[in-house]
Amino acid sequence: MRHEAAERVKKIPPYLFADIEAKVRAKKAEGIDIIDFGIGDPDIPTPDEIVEELIKQVKDPINHQYSTSAGEIETRRAIAEWYMRRFGVDVDPEKEVVITMGSKEGLVNICRAFINPGDVVLVPDPAYPVYAQGGALLSEGIPVRVPLLPENNFLVDVDRLPENGKMIFVNYPNNPTGAVASREFLKKIVEWGKETGTIICYDNAYSEITFDGYIAPSILEFGRECIEFGSFSKTFNMTGYRIGYAVGSEDLISGLKKVKSQVDSGVPKFIQKAAIKALKEYECIGRPASVERNCEIYKGRRDAFVTGLRKLGFRVEPPLGTFYLWFPVEEKSMEFSKKLLDVGVVVTPGVGFGEYGEGYVRIALTQPVSRIREALERMERVL
Ligand SMILES: Cc1ncc(COP(=O)(O)O)c(C=O)c1O
Repeated sequence: MRHEAAERVKKIPPYLFADIEAKVRAKKAEGIDIIDFGIGDPDIPTPDEIVEELIKQVKDPINHQYSTSAGEIETRRAIAEWYMRRFGVDVDPEKEVVITMGSKEGLVNICRAFINPGDVVLVPDPAYPVYAQGGALLSEGIPVRVPLLPENNFLVDVDRLPENGKMIFVNYPNNPTGAVASREFLKKIVEWGKETGTIICYDNAYSEITFDGYIAPSILEFGRECIEFGSFSKTFNMTGYRIGYAVGSEDLISGLKKVKSQVDSGVPKFIQKAAIKALKEYECIGRPASVERNCEIYKGRRDAFVTGLRKLGFRVEPPLGTFYLWFPVEEKSMEFSKKLLDVGVVVTPGVGFGEYGEGYVRIALTQPVSRIREALERMERVL
């Protein structure tokens, strides 16, 4: 007997990366050496101090019981202190902070909390697919795409935004384009949100992965009627730990908390304690050494790849944030990606991030420079 999935689930296209992962598995089975620039999952390990804290905490039985779905108050306090130190933003850890199971969970559950069937959710295109699918569609909302265009530096064009949205997702430093937001842009979109009553969900997952002196702001520096999502995944190479946070206005946080209280029972306490240790690294001037080291590694890779790609004739700009390169190719992005897969190089076709991503590909800088050089050689052979 086959059980039929719910209509809202049927509307969701297959997860882009799942499809690519299956193709990569098939290639590996053929014995092909794969150089994977596909998924944005850091290859660099979590800093030792954080791993050691985790080991210490996991051994303590006090951390073996349920946490709370909103996160331990100590963790929320650590986030609030970090917001003050990092962004100069004062938030109430009781009412304006929630710990999430990775920022992905928060991005999905904020829709469950605020989207009614048929509500319009404005989603950038290209974008992290979860906004439209796990977010809008699973809540029976209607994702309406707003293009991110190169002539606009891949910023949302605030003057052309529809005003009938209940919510908008905005993400800078941006996946997949690597674009960063100016302070003027953030000010303008916060004003627009206030005027139109649209809930602004700001995804700041890459706030700490920036280069060449660029420091990413928090949207909460420009207004408090938004919700901002952040993550330990990229900053501290903790993707597998599943811990993130949301910070913002009391009503938005309390809606998210209410949904979460029915869905999860909190990030394990030992993970939260390791995360507190990670945030404590910021008790210094500037970025902590481990984050600085990460960014230096990505910058070296970025520069090596950009130089090599330019030699191959591609128009590619070094991004100021994220660990992604985003550049146009002269054919359909899927065709281009398949061609590279034949020589064991995995890149993500831009069309997987939305129709405005067609004609582009994304490279995640999650391989060492030696492998980048090897990939460039293979690319030269096939292109
Ligand atoms: C833009 C963006 N937001 C959120 C996430 C989710 O990160 P996590 O759930 O690991 O915090 C990702 C992951 O790749 C991302 O690229």
